[in-house]
Amino acid sequence: MDKIVIEGGERLVGEVTVSGSKNATLPIFASSLLAEGEIRFHGVPDLRDVKTICQVLKNLGVKIGQDQRGTYLLDGTQLLGHEAPYNLVKTMRASILVLGPLVARAKRAFISLPGGCAIGARPVNLHLKGLQKLGAEIQLRHGYIEAKTKGLRGANIYLDVPTVTGTENLMMAAALAKGETVIENCAAEPEVLELAKVLNKMGAKISGAGSNIIRIRGVKRLTATEHSVIPDRIEAGTFMIAAGVTKGNIHIRNCNLDHMEAVANKLREAGMEILPEDDGARAIGNKRVKSVDIKTLPYPGFPTDMQAQIMVLMTLAKGLSVISETIFENRFIHVSELKRMGADIKVERNSAIINGVKGLSGAPVMATDLRASASLVLAGLAAEGKTEVSRVYHLDRGYEKLEEKLASLGAHIRRVKA
Ligand code: EPZ
Repeated sequence: MDKIVIEGGERLVGEVTVSGSKNATLPIFASSLLAEGEIRFHGVPDLRDVKTICQVLKNLGVKIGQDQRGTYLLDGTQLLGHEAPYNLVKTMRASILVLGPLVARAKRAFISLPGGCAIGARPVNLHLKGLQKLGAEIQLRHGYIEAKTKGLRGANIYLDVPTVTGTENLMMAAALAKGETVIENCAAEPEVLELAKVLNKMGAKISGAGSNIIRIRGVKRLTATEHSVIPDRIEAGTFMIAAGVTKGNIHIRNCNLDHMEAVANKLREAGMEILPEDDGARAIGNKRVKSVDIKTLPYPGFPTDMQAQIMVLMTLAKGLSVISETIFENRFIHVSELKRMGADIKVERNSAIINGVKGLSGAPVMATDLRASASLVLAGLAAEGKTEVSRVYHLDRGYEKLEEKLASLGAHIRRVKA
């Protein structure tokens, strides 16, 4: 297993370009199951999770090619299968995103039930309940979801929790259902809006995406389209924190500040400068930040995927801060590793109380999940001495060439191949 080795203490200055959004790419790729014809996606990030969703789709008969760096061609005209096997789904829970389109297009699906992961149980009960309302019969047997239907029909669905992939799954299923579907209390993330844009370009009739009520008028068929993937707002936020923890000045190209209001405002409250630039933003962390309280919430609230990263900034802030994690039940695994680097953090149920310290010290640490691994890299950039982050395969799921991008900003960071 590869390791990332960092000699901390360097101020990061320069410019970096953010890659396409992982959490926009995954549902958009899954939507290829709905359409007849060859779809062209540009600006696709080179990530492990993208490779995994391609394996799942190929297994179902989708033809996939790449015609230049970052452009993918997907053709779901001829679906050959309807199974997403355990060995693939267990490596990436988001494979559940093929369930809705498969039931809608192939009238059946046989998907391994995604297990939990390090950050939580990650149930999919709301995905299944919504599909049942649309007229799918669902059986859970031997760790698999068996779904079938004679034909989906529009329905009114209320989501107990604004689940992101649940909203995406149901929107894709409803696109080919007979009649109108209304999804209430749905997720409003930019990635949900992006998926709706792609589906509408394919011929779907979806309105309200990006708000908490989405209306879908089903159509008979969807056809191919072309689309460029939006920038990854979590990668962009991670670079903002990198500027904060190294007192640097980073021009973050290809980022959309409109999708990052909660993060940008919280960092300004802490004393950083987050300024718009023509093609993105500039993050300036020229002094020690002050402590601020953070509560993770569904969009447009502060994103849970930025919680581990901003925690690193708070470990170095002046004063006491409280971070409440309201989305996942176990998303503080990075705390114990940060404490080994000298952070002063106490966890009480779903809140972390952080007492800012003057500095962190480098240490060997272990990544446990995608965003926790990013936070350990950020801590290594700020720490005095050497930090070795092991199990960086977690990082490779959601960050494209992170160490190369950070090195180009002046970080002393390298990957040590296993
Ligand atoms: C998406 O996961 C993202 N993944 C996650 O990003 C992100 O952390 C999460 O949304 C929240 O923003 C992708 O988009 C591929 P949820 P998702 O369903 O859809 C509960 C990353 O690091 N829930 O919105 O799986 C669930 O337990 C990843 O890129 C149910 O109870 O998350 C959780 O408490 C990590 N029943 C809450 O909803 C359900 O059927 C939010 O989960 C579904 C969810």
